[in-house]
Amino acid sequence: MKHPAGFHRTATVENFSSVPRPNRADRNPSCRPLVSARIEALPPKPPNVIAIYPGSFDPITNGHLDLIQRGSRLFDRLIVSILRNESKQPLFSVEERTEMLCEVVQDYPNVQVDSFNGLLVDHAAAHSATVLLRGIRAISDYEFELQMALMNRRLRPGVETIFMMSNEAYSFISSRLVKEVFGLGGSITGLVPATVEARLHRRLSQLQTKGA
Ligand code: PNS
Repeated sequence: MKHPAGFHRTATVENFSSVPRPNRADRNPSCRPLVSARIEALPPKPPNVIAIYPGSFDPITNGHLDLIQRGSRLFDRLIVSILRNESKQPLFSVEERTEMLCEVVQDYPNVQVDSFNGLLVDHAAAHSATVLLRGIRAISDYEFELQMALMNRRLRPGVETIFMMSNEAYSFISSRLVKEVFGLGGSITGLVPATVEARLHRRLSQLQTKGA
């Protein structure tokens, strides 16, 4: 078989990794850079990659938990961080959400739970974290997530946002919908961890007692 000039053999799908590169002398001269290309220099990879998984987690769902499991396999340490947001009226306090999260991450030794005020990137820096982990469920999440990721990158270029998809079985779940369905008497079994479901039942009866 005749090979093109400068190539020694033809690549097939099977031996793709052995695709031969043209000999230096045979490279297209018009592709040689006139000025060496430069991109923004970023800090090198740290020896231990620490990631922050931030959110409201009011309450944690099985979609969040699925992402925590996936993240725990990718990063040396994963810190699930609850935003302390005074302006929101959460169903569960930050302390209750911390307890719920701690209960469900016990199986993952490299996962910790924390909370934060202020800028997420400052919280990441305080933990020497270089990754922000966020879940993307549908294309509708993308616009807001992109804005946040680019703003966070502008604030701290060394912190990378990584988007992950949870198992498709959980891709429609949100804390807001779980609370709405539960409040209206629908079943949320399988959408949140069993301990969270039990807490929702307790919270509902507390609210009903208060309201009575
Ligand atoms: O679970 P949520 O409510 O979608 O999480 C949103 C969260 C906590 C990730 C976001 O509100 C946040 O990072 N808040 C911290 C304030 C901040 O850093 N803002 C500027 C980044 S765009």
